[in-house]
Amino acid sequence: MRVLVTGVDGYIGAVLGRRLLKQGFEVVGIDCGFYRDGWLYNDHQPQPLTLTKDVRRITSKDVEGFDAVVHLAELSNDPIGELNERATYEINHLGSVALARVCKQAGVSRFVYTSSCSVYGAADDGGERTELSAPNPQTAYAKCKVLVERDIGALADMHCSPVFLRNATAFGASPRVVFDIVLNNLAGFAWTTREIRMTSDGTPWRPLVHVEDICQAVALALEAPREAVHNQIFNVGDNQQNYRIREIATIVGQVFDGCTVTFGRPSGDNRSYRTSFDKIRRHLPEFRCSWSAELGARQLREIFKRIGMTDQMFSFRGFTRLEQLKHLIATGQIDGDFYWHPLEEPTGKGQSE
Ligand SMILES: NC(=O)c1ccc[n+]([C@@H]2O[C@H](COP(=O)([O-])OP(=O)(O)OC[C@H]3O[C@@H](n4cnc5c(N)ncnc54)[C@H](O)[C@@H]3O)[C@@H](O)[C@H]2O)c1
Repeated sequence: MRVLVTGVDGYIGAVLGRRLLKQGFEVVGIDCGFYRDGWLYNDHQPQPLTLTKDVRRITSKDVEGFDAVVHLAELSNDPIGELNERATYEINHLGSVALARVCKQAGVSRFVYTSSCSVYGAADDGGERTELSAPNPQTAYAKCKVLVERDIGALADMHCSPVFLRNATAFGASPRVVFDIVLNNLAGFAWTTREIRMTSDGTPWRPLVHVEDICQAVALALEAPREAVHNQIFNVGDNQQNYRIREIATIVGQVFDGCTVTFGRPSGDNRSYRTSFDKIRRHLPEFRCSWSAELGARQLREIFKRIGMTDQMFSFRGFTRLEQLKHLIATGQIDGDFYWHPLEEPTGKGQSE
């Protein structure tokens, strides 16, 4: 199966591209390379050939001949959406829908889209959100996810078979790790300072899923019979892994020797949701999450130890999406709409490392 993976140079993409290659897929990547400065460790795995291109400029020529597209290339967290809401809509909503249209025209029928459980937003009534629950997105990022599901869902027919994976918040190792997601961030503090000092009380619920388990869901969604996944939405994660943020902090604190954990006061952040992950198990019975928060924290601890991770590495802008984009804008490498300046555009094919 020939698969085009957009966003292959991101946190999930860097794991997914290599894993799909290993599983025997023929993989080509597309990425505009915002975060190529950040590469935490080498694991000497073959990487897919990658074309440097903005998804907003993809034409049918780029997708012709592929059996499937996995679409990850978006501005991928809430604070970035607040930095430039218009560009977030252009890339995440309009860019994603345009890409799906191009795929349909070019005869690429399977389109796997990485949505997010953040569509459930403020849902702290104790009940678990299923795929049938009404979304309640709180941010531009999450609102775009809902719009993309709606608009790409409307394209579904005999020639276009979209699958929407609403991933829980990711954690775990990737060479292009991000440290601004909850478990990875706490693990970074635990390693570098031996202290997790929460500014909030940590009561909100946050389902978690390891990046490898997301990749497993993507691979299964690519290979599944059409009738199992056609135009379906799946929450991706595990019922056992709905955590309160304070539980995540406690688990991480226990994994890192000598780490203290303290909590603050209730915060204004009202994003809180528990999620049911029953549906994916019904439609893709092989899907199982192999990783818990504790295993993920141990995995990160081993990697930090192996590479001798320092404060400087932990706080490097390349591992914090918002900081890297601010840096690229401040240094004139990309413009306010997140297009590379023509002279700065990372060149050619292949990985920069
Ligand atoms: N990380 C999570 O916790 C999580 C959870 C749920 C869903 N998701 C979704 O999974 C996808 C991948 O997430 P991630 O954590 O790997 O994000 P990431 O920010 O690490 O990677 C995104 C990649 O897309 C590329 N990109 C961004 N805009 C682009 C554009 N206009 N043209 C070409 N490339 C572009 C970036 O250069 C980057 O390499 C996103 O859609 C995200 O919303 C992530």
